Amino acid sequence: MIQSVNESRPFSFLTLRATDYSDRKSGMKSIVVANWKMNPGTMREAKKLFDATREAAESAKHVSVIVAPPAIFLRELRARYKGKRLGFAIQQASAEGSGAYTGDISLPQAKDAGAQYVIVGHSERRAKGESNEDAGKVVAAALESDMTPILCVGEKARSHEGEHFNVVKEQLRTGFSGVEPGKISKVLVAYEPVWAIGGEKAMSPRDMHEMAIFIRKTIIELHGEKGMGVRIIYGGAATESNAAEMLRDGDVIGLLVGHVSINEARFAALLQALENAR
Ligand code: PGA
Repeated sequence: MIQSVNESRPFSFLTLRATDYSDRKSGMKSIVVANWKMNPGTMREAKKLFDATREAAESAKHVSVIVAPPAIFLRELRARYKGKRLGFAIQQASAEGSGAYTGDISLPQAKDAGAQYVIVGHSERRAKGESNEDAGKVVAAALESDMTPILCVGEKARSHEGEHFNVVKEQLRTGFSGVEPGKISKVLVAYEPVWAIGGEKAMSPRDMHEMAIFIRKTIIELHGEKGMGVRIIYGGAATESNAAEMLRDGDVIGLLVGHVSINEARFAALLQALENAR
């Protein structure tokens, strides 16, 4: 039984600490993960989208862009990229090293194809049966393989009783169960309220800020002071219109972008909005 966390709001001790953290992070680059999901339909279109993404990323020097194409396009896109600025992610991978797992991709295979990052526990994977435990195993295995896990957490719905905090707490507890305190800062937590994904209306930066404090508080409770260093990004209808505001007021260092990342003009505008907001 998960204990209700409502009584611990408004996290006054952590609000102060979170502000210190925001100050420290101001010199850092922001992170934008372009999650293409199961798009586009052909390698030819993927190359075109990739070239546009690269160009947009080049004019946003203070943003680190991580491209997460469908796995089948990854190696070829990685091979045609000679620069160092873009990162590559696999959209999901197995925690198993090898074996009889038809259809799965291992972390070593993803790494060999050029991925340095792995998206873990995306809600669209969870909807197909992936559990918190599965996510925890991939996070631990990714760190073991020297890859950066992007652990997705987020509730399907919000309630007045604050049950969504319990959902996120459990996702974090299991997701971080194999993470040593010294490696907490190597994990990227993508908070994605499932109800916002795919639309045009993101959560308010104020609510994101509250959730960021809660995420840090939870990880500190589980793993001690080093939890303060956890890196948090936001996902769910992140667009060119709300990106800058979310980074300014949401207490996050970046965004996980879905449908806007496959629209060349909108994605370029989103990166530019972040660049101009500095
Ligand atoms: P969206 O998707 O930007 O289309 O809402 C985000 C995600 O699912 O990662």
